[in-house]
Amino acid sequence: MSIDFQALNADAGFAAEVSGIDLSRAMDGDAFVPIRDGLDHYGVLVFRGQDLDEDSHIAFSRHFGDLETSIRRHRARNVGRDELSDISNVAPDGSIHALDSEHMSYNLGNQLWHADSSFKRIPALASLLYALEVPPRDGATEFADQRAAWDGLDAEIQTRIDGMVGQHSLAHSRAAMGYDAQKNFKVVEKAETPPVPQALVQQNPRTGRKALYAGAHVSHIQGLEKVESDSLLAELRQHATQPHLLYCHAWQPGDLVIWDDRATLHRGRPWDNRHRRVMRRTTIAGIGPTA
Ligand code: OGA
Ligand code: MN
Repeated sequence: MSIDFQALNADAGFAAEVSGIDLSRAMDGDAFVPIRDGLDHYGVLVFRGQDLDEDSHIAFSRHFGDLETSIRRHRARNVGRDELSDISNVAPDGSIHALDSEHMSYNLGNQLWHADSSFKRIPALASLLYALEVPPRDGATEFADQRAAWDGLDAEIQTRIDGMVGQHSLAHSRAAMGYDAQKNFKVVEKAETPPVPQALVQQNPRTGRKALYAGAHVSHIQGLEKVESDSLLAELRQHATQPHLLYCHAWQPGDLVIWDDRATLHRGRPWDNRHRRVMRRTTIAGIGPTA
């Protein structure tokens, strides 16, 4: 078998399906290089028909760097390991979580355009989301190319915003979907998620490409008046999620999708909650703070 990349989009530089590799098997550093380079190039990689348990998902993820632990690890969840985020609507007892439960209300935040863990001092480099069960329709995940979004900005705006710093806060983005972190977060969860600064424009050190970084966790841009910050963020977000920048992933069980959190935004789409949707995610920590 040899590894092969097939572009999935009209813009052939964004999102590719990768075939010819079984991710459940141990891989040496040389075999991993094309995957890392492919992620730098495409921003989103789709692997179909994978058979991953928690351990092999984590083992493969480690090639990219250190893994984060989930903020939600102190709760009863549908995953065993602290390195996994529980992206499912199923409780540990096998029942489907009610839409108004704390768990679903928290995960509803995933339906806003965001970059994972940008609210951590060291934000995520990449995420690896694996589907075990999917609803019969709906519940796709959309991705937006933030490098192409940057490239498409007028030069004057690029000059104005390069060097700006966004303030990121999990409580802020969750509040936008009606979740009250002040009330619902445990003491340890609050302690782990103070607001943090991140650069508004990220740059991939290997490719040199710049990308906008203005997802839902950004509450405001430092040094600007609130009205000015709000209107700039609204304008950038509108620009960053135009249809020609998007790849929409319709899930099948066995899909693993990897995305570069410094180069893309993503959002989950709704589905009928009478159906099970069971996914788990690892998140790769970045090298350091970005501002
Ligand atoms: C995530 C996420 C969206 C979805 O796992 O980081 O945002 O479609 N998921 O479940
Ligand atoms: Mn996410």
